Amino acid sequence: MKIFKVSNSLEGGKVAFDLLKEKLAAGAQTLGLATGSSPIEFYKQIVASDLDFSDIRSINLDEYVGLSPENDQSYDYFMRQHLFNAKPFKETFLPNGLAEDLEAETKRYDSLIETYPIDLQILGIGRNGHIGFNEPGTPFDAKTQVVDLAENTIQANARFFERAEDVPRQALSMGISAIMSAKAIILMAYGAEKADAIYGMIHGEVTPDLPASVLQTHPEVYVIVDEAAASKLD
Ligand code: GLP
Repeated sequence: MKIFKVSNSLEGGKVAFDLLKEKLAAGAQTLGLATGSSPIEFYKQIVASDLDFSDIRSINLDEYVGLSPENDQSYDYFMRQHLFNAKPFKETFLPNGLAEDLEAETKRYDSLIETYPIDLQILGIGRNGHIGFNEPGTPFDAKTQVVDLAENTIQANARFFERAEDVPRQALSMGISAIMSAKAIILMAYGAEKADAIYGMIHGEVTPDLPASVLQTHPEVYVIVDEAAASKLD
């Protein structure tokens, strides 16, 4: 893993953007994208740039079950608001959290990822070390699946919803095996509440108890952290 310590998410977004530019120049065609607060500055850099994405595909990590794309808390909405409206892509894919047959939707998503291998995967990290919505305990060989969200994830996400009962309890998440199949990965984390997860991811045992620890076994991972998130590293 290559670790970049930055002073804030703005600087981190610029580091990630430079890595993206390198990968696009080297021929990357499919980006794996993430939601959450961590990549927002990165998306701002993209939007402010003159990069053209009309030949690039994106495949997002996850989506809540039960939220329509019009719901401003859906990840579909997030991606349009922060990136796709300003930067049209050739094609953009997210899991369909409204699919009647969720199992069939997981299969559709896996075949999509097989058809379009991910050149560069963007990740945030949950406080418990989850990546995408692969919560602790998820096997490393998991494919796209319907996930029951961990209680602390539900609580962390509750800040975005008006009423506690509106917070989704389930999500569709790309599996860890798909994340690991990406040729290169950028993970961004900011803030003290990520410090334990970042420490475990880099120095801890490789274990499904901390899903992000699997990244220790990936050949090309860039970790971008601020001082608070890196505070337990040395
Ligand atoms: C959610 C998302 C993850 C994201 C995590 C951290 O659980 N499913 O993909 O990495 O939140 O979000 P944030 O970047 O807002 O801290």
